[in-house]
Amino acid sequence: MSRDETGRYITTTIAGESVRAFVPDPLPPKLSKNDFATLDGPTQDAEAAIARLRLAGEMLPSLDWFIYSFVRKEALLSSEIEGTQATLTDVLSYEQTGQPGNAEIADVEEVTNYIKAINFGFGEIKSEEGLPISTRLLDQCHRRLMQGVRGANRQPGEARRSNVWIGGTRPGNSVFVPSPHQDVPALMDDLQRYIHADDAMHPLLRTAAVHLQLETIHPYLDGNGRVGRMLISLLLAHWDILPSPLLYLSVYLKENQQDYYAWLNKVRTEGEWIGWFQFFLRGTSTVASSAEQTARALYSQVTQDRKKLLAEDSTTVFAIKLFEMLPEQPIVTMPLVTKLMQTTKPTAGKAIDLLQQLGILAEVGEKKRDRLYSYKPYLALLS
Ligand SMILES: Nc1ncnc2c1ncn2[C@@H]1O[C@H](COP(=O)(O)OP(=O)(O)OP(=O)(O)O)[C@@H](O)[C@H]1O
Ligand SMILES: [Mg+2]
Repeated sequence: MSRDETGRYITTTIAGESVRAFVPDPLPPKLSKNDFATLDGPTQDAEAAIARLRLAGEMLPSLDWFIYSFVRKEALLSSEIEGTQATLTDVLSYEQTGQPGNAEIADVEEVTNYIKAINFGFGEIKSEEGLPISTRLLDQCHRRLMQGVRGANRQPGEARRSNVWIGGTRPGNSVFVPSPHQDVPALMDDLQRYIHADDAMHPLLRTAAVHLQLETIHPYLDGNGRVGRMLISLLLAHWDILPSPLLYLSVYLKENQQDYYAWLNKVRTEGEWIGWFQFFLRGTSTVASSAEQTARALYSQVTQDRKKLLAEDSTTVFAIKLFEMLPEQPIVTMPLVTKLMQTTKPTAGKAIDLLQQLGILAEVGEKKRDRLYSYKPYLALLS
């Protein structure tokens, strides 16, 4: 079922080479009622998987720590797509101690930037006075994403002011040349307008369409993939599909990167929206189901450990308090524990010892001072 191109080409010059840059038509996609028929089943499946994830999320005593950890996981995976190699433990210990562990500081920074950016985005759209989903909001997320070591020279927080190409070693043999930079502001205006306009298409499909359109516009010098994936979570919340950022497509997009890129191309050159939607829906179902399982596994881990701790004769109020902190703070140090629980070193030490004996806490590395302890079985479920 081959269709037409979904935009027009403009001949432009990059680095002295003449190339055809693609300017996409505004959304929505031009499809008929019949086209959508094949999507009904997969859409319902994806919706059901998300509903189950939502429920599993509600089952947790505190949603916050689940999200907190998952946002970290998404950040890690997202940056791995870029080649960053920081582990979950590296990131958590960096937040705790300011030291990156075994990873490069730039790698860890990239991950923590991602967390700041997505938290900022959700904070804005959830607040009355906050920005709605808009170019401005995405720019602000981008600014946070690109802060520091690696991003500083990539025009953080603003649309690109030069032409770029994707794939290949030079403009002339590239896979895709996004719109000339002069067109980006108008294209982003269209996209923003579409997000807030009425459209009968299912919100999951609208989300898929908006993500693809953003990648095709490629508004930034770098970080377009990450901003585009963040936008998926924001749109799912905006359209009341999933209120909290519990769904992370990065794993799926990474595992199926070739197909993912191929669909981006096929929509452009052949109008293959339906194939892209199917790919996106399949990913949504898969990822939602596995996140649901993780949520359940985390819940039973915490429940089981709590039971173990309460059954222990030598347990103390402080040990229980410390334990309840762990889901949100899976890596701790002695100074942190004394501070958070407002207690003395010996009391904190005893609580840490007990949790260690029960296999709840484990020492990370072999430092003599300011040792790091992690809630190991819990972190294992998240990595
Ligand atoms: N042929 C293509 N057409 C349109 N978009 C593409 C194509 N190939 C890749 N992309 C998009 O470009 C993104 C990469 O762009 P960029 O390097 O600016 O983002 P990033 O966040 O730094 O990288 P990543 O997505 O790899 O983490 C990919 O994630 C994908 O969404
Ligand atoms: Mg990049």
